[in-house]
Amino acid sequence: MAGCRASVDLYDRPVARVFSGIQPTGDLHLGNYLGALRQFTRDQHDHDAVFCIVDLHALTVPQDPHELGRRTLDTARVHLAAGLDPSVCTLFVQSHVHEHAELSWLMECTASVGELRRMTQFKEKADKAPEQEFVAAALFTYPALMAADILLYGADRVPVGADQRQHLELARDLAVRFNHRFGDTFVVPAAAVPTVGARIMDLQRPTEKMSKSSVSPQGTVGLLEDPASITRKIRRAVTDTEVEVRYDPEAKPGVSNLLTILGAAVGEDPAQLARRYQQYGELKVDCAEAVVALLEPIQARYAELAAEPSRTAAILAEGAAKARAVAAPVLEQARAAVGLLPR
Ligand code: AMP
Ligand code: TRP
Repeated sequence: MAGCRASVDLYDRPVARVFSGIQPTGDLHLGNYLGALRQFTRDQHDHDAVFCIVDLHALTVPQDPHELGRRTLDTARVHLAAGLDPSVCTLFVQSHVHEHAELSWLMECTASVGELRRMTQFKEKADKAPEQEFVAAALFTYPALMAADILLYGADRVPVGADQRQHLELARDLAVRFNHRFGDTFVVPAAAVPTVGARIMDLQRPTEKMSKSSVSPQGTVGLLEDPASITRKIRRAVTDTEVEVRYDPEAKPGVSNLLTILGAAVGEDPAQLARRYQQYGELKVDCAEAVVALLEPIQARYAELAAEPSRTAAILAEGAAKARAVAAPVLEQARAAVGLLPR
C-alpha cells in the first residue's frame, strides 16, 4: 500500500508546505490579520505557501448571491494588500478548484457523526440559532471540507488563529485514519498558532473573540477602517474599574486584550509591556497609534489594487491553475486508495 504514495511527491520536498484559508464572509478585521494573515505573509518567504479564499465554506450560512463574488474578490485583494506576493506563493478561490468538493465527500465518509458533533464552533453556531432558524447540514460537515482543503496540498503547517485548533486536530485525525485504512496517502498537518495575537477579543465585549459577525461594530477594528475611527474605537474600549495596568486575561480581559494588540503590533510580550504603563489612557493612546501604523501600508496597497480590478482576478486565475496542478494528483491518489474506478 505504501507504494501508492509514490505518484505524488508530498514527502520529499525541500521546504515545508503551508496552507490556510479565510472566508469571504465580511470585512477582515484586526483578529484575522494578527491571528492568520500576518503569519501568511511571513510564511510565504521560507515555505511553499498556498492560500485560499474559502467561498464554499461561506455558503454554510446564507449569503447574498449578488454580494458573494464581490466579497471573494475583495477578500483576495486584502490578502495581497497585507503583503502576499503572487510570485512566491499561490492565492486562489476554493470553488475554482473542484477537487476540494470531491475530496470533502471522502472526508465526510472518514469522519464520524460523534466527532463532528463535538466541534465547538458547530455547537456554538447551531445552539445560538433561534428555534425556527434554518441550520444547513453543511455547517455540521464543514470541518470535513476544511480537512480536504488542507490534505489536498499535503500541507505540513497550517497557520490559523486559536479558534481553529480543534478543526485542525480533526484534520489530523482524519488524515491518520484514512492512511491507516487505505495506505499512506496524506501528510498529517499541524496547526501553527501565533504566540501573541492568536485570539484578539472584541473591544466592547472582551470575553468574546473579535469576529466578522460581531453584533457590536464598535468592538471590531476593520483592516480598511480609517485611522480616526480606529483610534476612537480603541479609546472607547471596555476596560474595568481598577486602575492598575496588568496582563491578566481572566481578571482583566479588556486591558489584557489591549496589551495583546499592542504587543502583537510592536512585537513585544504583553506582560512585559504592562509594566510600562500606569494608566489605561496611555495604553490606549499607544495601542491606537501602533494599530494605525500597522494598517497604514496595507490600506495604501489596497487602494492601489482596488483601482485595478483585473489584476487581482488574473492573480486568482493563475493561482487556481497552480493549485489544481497540486490538488488533482492527490485527489486521484485518494480515489484510487478507496477503490473508486479510474475515470
Ligand atoms: P474567519 O474570519 O473565521 O474566516 O477566520 C480566518 C482566520 O482568522 C482563521 O485562521 C481564524 O483563526 C483567524 N481569526 C479569526 N478571528 C480571530 C481573532 N479574533 N483573533 C485571532 N485570529 C482570528
Ligand atoms: N475554517 C476556517 C475559519 O473559519 C477557514 C478555513 C477553511 C481554513 N479551510 C481552511 C483554515 C483550511 C485553514 C485551513 O477560519
